[in-house]
Amino acid sequence: MLKANLLNFTTLYRFGTPFETDAVTLDKKSLNFTETEQLPFFSFEKNDTIFTLKFQLNEEDRIYGLGQTLGGLNKRGKRYKLYATDDPLHTPEKESLYGSHPFLIVNNKFGLFIDYPSEIIFDIGFTKHDIMEITIPSNNFDLYIFNSQNNIEIIKEYLKLTGTPYIPPKWAFGYQQCRWSYPDAKTIKEVAENFRKKEIPCDAIYMDIDYMKDFKVFTIDENKFPDFDKFMKEMKEKGFKLVPIVDPGVKIEKGYDVYEEGKEKGYFCKDKDGKDFVATVWPGFTHFPDFLNPEVRKWWGRKYKLFTDLGIYSFWNDMNEPSIFFVPDALKKYLKEINEMLNKEIGLEFFGIKDGINALSNKREYYSEFYHNTPYGKFSNEELHNLYGYYMAKATVEGFNELIPDKRYLLLSRSSYAGHHRIATIWMGDNMSWWEHMLVNIRMLLSLNMAGFFYTGADIGGFGSNASPELVIRWMQLGVFSPLYRNHSALGTRHQEPWAFDENIENIMKKIIEFRYALIPYLYSEFFNSIEELTPFISPLFLHYNDDETSFEIEDQFMVGKSLMAAPIIQPNAKGRFVYLPENKWLYWKVSDFKERNVEVLNPGTHYIKAGLNEIPVFIKENSLIVLNEEKLNYVDEKATEEIIVIGFVTDKAEFIYFEDDGESFAFKEGNYAKIKITVIKNKNGYDFEVEKDESEKFETSLKRIKFEIYNENNEKVVFTLSL
Ligand code: GLC
Repeated sequence: MLKANLLNFTTLYRFGTPFETDAVTLDKKSLNFTETEQLPFFSFEKNDTIFTLKFQLNEEDRIYGLGQTLGGLNKRGKRYKLYATDDPLHTPEKESLYGSHPFLIVNNKFGLFIDYPSEIIFDIGFTKHDIMEITIPSNNFDLYIFNSQNNIEIIKEYLKLTGTPYIPPKWAFGYQQCRWSYPDAKTIKEVAENFRKKEIPCDAIYMDIDYMKDFKVFTIDENKFPDFDKFMKEMKEKGFKLVPIVDPGVKIEKGYDVYEEGKEKGYFCKDKDGKDFVATVWPGFTHFPDFLNPEVRKWWGRKYKLFTDLGIYSFWNDMNEPSIFFVPDALKKYLKEINEMLNKEIGLEFFGIKDGINALSNKREYYSEFYHNTPYGKFSNEELHNLYGYYMAKATVEGFNELIPDKRYLLLSRSSYAGHHRIATIWMGDNMSWWEHMLVNIRMLLSLNMAGFFYTGADIGGFGSNASPELVIRWMQLGVFSPLYRNHSALGTRHQEPWAFDENIENIMKKIIEFRYALIPYLYSEFFNSIEELTPFISPLFLHYNDDETSFEIEDQFMVGKSLMAAPIIQPNAKGRFVYLPENKWLYWKVSDFKERNVEVLNPGTHYIKAGLNEIPVFIKENSLIVLNEEKLNYVDEKATEEIIVIGFVTDKAEFIYFEDDGESFAFKEGNYAKIKITVIKNKNGYDFEVEKDESEKFETSLKRIKFEIYNENNEKVVFTLSL
């Protein structure tokens, strides 16, 4: 094997000839490789087809990372198969989800990233309690070892390697309403009008698969959406963004332009005989565009013109594992087998029949049956399986670079690979309206943030199955702290819009969403601050506290930026919960209406805090500040922010960097932003307040006033207003 040092403390170990995945942005050509026989930390074994790495786990070893996976925040005790699959039932024993992020941290020891585009199995103390065994079915891959004991430094180094996280437009921090489906313009308008009539803030409404004509990608059904242009204008006037879904499967239909062009130009993935591979997804029989081919990406990216011409810059790419309901021949074969049983007496065989039909979906064999034509040669999908979602997003973004080079876009994808966080983001796929999935949501949010997906989120309220009003409320409260705040639910399930239950529930939901909008100046500023520092925006306590080790075991509380800790209620019928407050004192704010400051100072340690159904527990860290916008907003960009309220808990000194830009372009990269440093220092009689503008900036802030509400350790408040 070869070895090269890069960055501050990273070593790349190269095995064979790895496929160039695109995960790493650093130029690898200039690296100085030397031969080596040794790996630090690991022992290894290999044969012609399999490479196994082994790490001896001590009882106290903790493993974090792996991005979008189930299991604990500490990944020990479970086996993970990083192989993208569309599994809509996220039960605890499942080993694969939609993406692959093979980056992990062995706490206090080192970090690692394996750049390999097909299945990698991480058996982390599952088969043997004290062994982490990593299996790669190949001898061609890059292994990066981050030799540091500092978890944050490891994450930073990983992000230097794979790229700075993607930044969505500012409106994407607003509330977003989704449903499979709001099938036509009339329904979408009604939903939009409801939000405005009821004065519940909302920024976006999603368009699920039913907006298309027969599920044909890059079409809009004119019967359901007559005069789309006009409809779009009306939505825009009301301050709504539309977010259409885009699926990769192209319907096989004579005369349909996307199909005809793709076929003629040879843009679809081929089967072993060189024919266009056929799979079945929503539109029926489809072909898959070969996104690994740059020419195909160019073609696909330009198709977004249909939407960008209408002023739509926000999308969700779905089904891109790629998901396959079944392959026609496989279904035929199965039906034939069943048919042959027609005249037999069926007993226990029934269970085989039952499972047989399910097993036709996303069957592993299919992925060896179609091929990609890449710049590096021909590969089966199986060999590059985890890259399809990323390359679909890349095609989309390359299209945006041509079509809307100055616009920040929202782009969610379901499938992803390491490095995806640089160009777009993901949502967490098809969860359920289960209380258990709120904990899954939190753990995944933290693990994904550590893998560079700073802006991400789950389907709030749960996608599959029916939700109770209590569950939706508690999940909406958790969602206040989720960068992507999107409520989504599946076809045939109970509705989850704020008004879907009764008036009391609706009022509570309204207050929750209002709180989210009030927090946007804090969230947006801290988001940019985390990007600048390359440290997770939403983070586990253990990245901040090295206390008596308790912080390492807290999986249901998390930091949002640097000043705020969330401890959502995720248990049914709970009137409160235990919280662990590390190290310093905390200002506990119980929010039912964000305009009321129901605050109390709490000492470090464990507390039982009460929180009724309409109350959200929020904790402000000692010597830190948060900023709020108290003005009523229907959507993020409705009005420029002229006044912010700084709420602080200051026993010594606290600082906050407020960030503002146009929220929709990349001009911030040229210094077109305002950064305002706000400092509060305790003195003998009260506080000193300092506000310092970054003079190098080329952007004029809209802020006119800053109001301060500062609490001391005795819960005494000092208020002060400063005009800018
Ligand atoms: C998939 C997506 C889900 C979407 C549905 C219909 O299940 O994950 O979000 O609503 O397809 O398009």
